[in-house]
Amino acid sequence: MSAHGTPIPMTSRPCGPLNGEAHVPGDKSISHRSLILGAMSVGETIVTGLLEGQDVLDTAKAMQAFGADITRDEDGTWHVHGVGVGGFAEPDQVIDCGNSGTGVRLIMGCMATSDMAVTFTGDASLNKRPMARVTDPLALFGAQSVGRSGGRLPMTVVGAADPVPVRYVVPVPSAQVKSAVLLAGLNAPGQTVVIEKEATRDHTERMLAGFGAEISVVDTPEGREITLTGQPELRAQTIVVPRDPSSAAFPVCAALIVPGSDVLVPNIGLNPTRAGLFETLRDMGADLTYENLREEGGEPVADLRARYSPKMRGIEVPPARAASMIDEYPVLSVVAAHATGRTVMRGVKELRVKECDRIDAMAKGLRACGVTVDEGPDWWEVEGMGPGAMPGGATVEVFLDHRIAMSFLVAGMAAKTAITVEDGGPIATSFPIFEGLMADLGADLVKA
Ligand code: S3P
Repeated sequence: MSAHGTPIPMTSRPCGPLNGEAHVPGDKSISHRSLILGAMSVGETIVTGLLEGQDVLDTAKAMQAFGADITRDEDGTWHVHGVGVGGFAEPDQVIDCGNSGTGVRLIMGCMATSDMAVTFTGDASLNKRPMARVTDPLALFGAQSVGRSGGRLPMTVVGAADPVPVRYVVPVPSAQVKSAVLLAGLNAPGQTVVIEKEATRDHTERMLAGFGAEISVVDTPEGREITLTGQPELRAQTIVVPRDPSSAAFPVCAALIVPGSDVLVPNIGLNPTRAGLFETLRDMGADLTYENLREEGGEPVADLRARYSPKMRGIEVPPARAASMIDEYPVLSVVAAHATGRTVMRGVKELRVKECDRIDAMAKGLRACGVTVDEGPDWWEVEGMGPGAMPGGATVEVFLDHRIAMSFLVAGMAAKTAITVEDGGPIATSFPIFEGLMADLGADLVKA
C-alpha cells in the first residue's frame, strides 16, 4: 500500500524447490546516500544500479525540492546535478518522505545547517517513529524543530543560520543518527566529531570520503570516532550501487527452508557492517557459501549460494552482531522456526522503533502460524519446530512494514499451509521486484 492506497493482500503457498539466480535490487542505504551526496556536490553525479523503490524515489523528489536537478535515462541510469554544500534552496512544499526513516532523518541532517525552514511528513508508519534522536543533536548545531508530541512527524525544522560544529556521542546504535550529524556537519565551519559506541553501517563515511570530504575514523576507548572537516567542496562521482544484502536475505532464507532448493544470489556486498545475518545463518549450520569472493569499490563482494538446510540449529545470536543485521531479524526468526532448538536474540530494542515494532509484529504473526515466541523489551526467542513443521495457515498483519510482509511470504513457502499477508503493498518501498523474482525461482505467490 502506498501512503494512502488500498491494502493488497498476498498469499504464499507451500512450494517445491527454489532454483536459479536471484538478481536483487540495489542497496537502499547506498541509493539514498547517492542522491543526497550527489545533490550536495558540484557537478554531475551518475548513478547506476539505483534501487527504484518508493523510499528512494521519495528521496529523489525531496532533493529536487531542495534545488538539485535529477533525471533518469530509460536504461535506469540516474543523473544528479548538485547544488554544492550550502547551496540548497528552501522547498516551497512539505517534504513527504513516505515510509522512509532513512530518507527523513538524513534529509533533516543535510538541511539543518542551512538558513531555511522545512516541514517534513510521512505515512502512518513514519509519522509514529521517533525523530528526537535526530533533532536533539541537530539542535547542537543551532537548528530548531517543532513537531507533534513525542518528537513525531509532521515536524518543521528551522536550520541554523550560523551553525557551529559539534562533538556528539550517539546514544543509540543508529547509522541514521550518525549520518544526520555528519551531513549537518558538512555545512558547519570547523570539525564535527561523531562517536559511536557500536559500529553501525558505514556507507556515509565511505561515500563522503569518495566525494572528496576530509573525514577520518579512529577507534578510541569511547568508541568509533569520526571527524569531518566542514564546508568542503564535494566533487560529483560516478556510483555503481551494489546489490542489497538486506534484500538478498529473502531469497537466501527461503532457499534454506524450502526442501530441495539451490539458489545463487550474485554480487552481494559483504561489508562487515551489513553481513551479520549471513554469519549467523552459517553459525546455525546453514548451507550458505560465498562464491567468487572479491573486492569491488573497496568493499568485499560475493555470490551467495544457499541450499536447503534441514539440519539448522537454534543459537544465541551474539548481541554484538545486532547492528550488522538489524533489518534481518524478522526473516531470521522465520528460519529459526524451521531450525531445531531455540534461537535467542538479545540487545535488539531498536527493532521496536523500525517501520513498526518488529518484535511485536513477528511474534504475533509467528504465533498465529503455530510457533512459540517469547519476548521482552529488548529480546525475543523463537522455539524451533524443526524443518517443515510450521503449521502456517494464518493471515498476518504487516503494519505498513515491507520486511514483515516479505518475511511471512517466505514463511508461507515452507509452512504446512499457506500464509496470507494482509498487505503486500509496502514491499514496493525496498524490493519492488520481489514477487516476480521469487516466482521465477519457483515460489507460489498470489494476490489474494
Ligand atoms: C539505515 C540504518 C538502519 C536501518 C535502516 C537503514 C541507513 O537504521 O535499520 O533500514 O541507511 O542508515 P538505524 O539508523 O536506526 O540503525
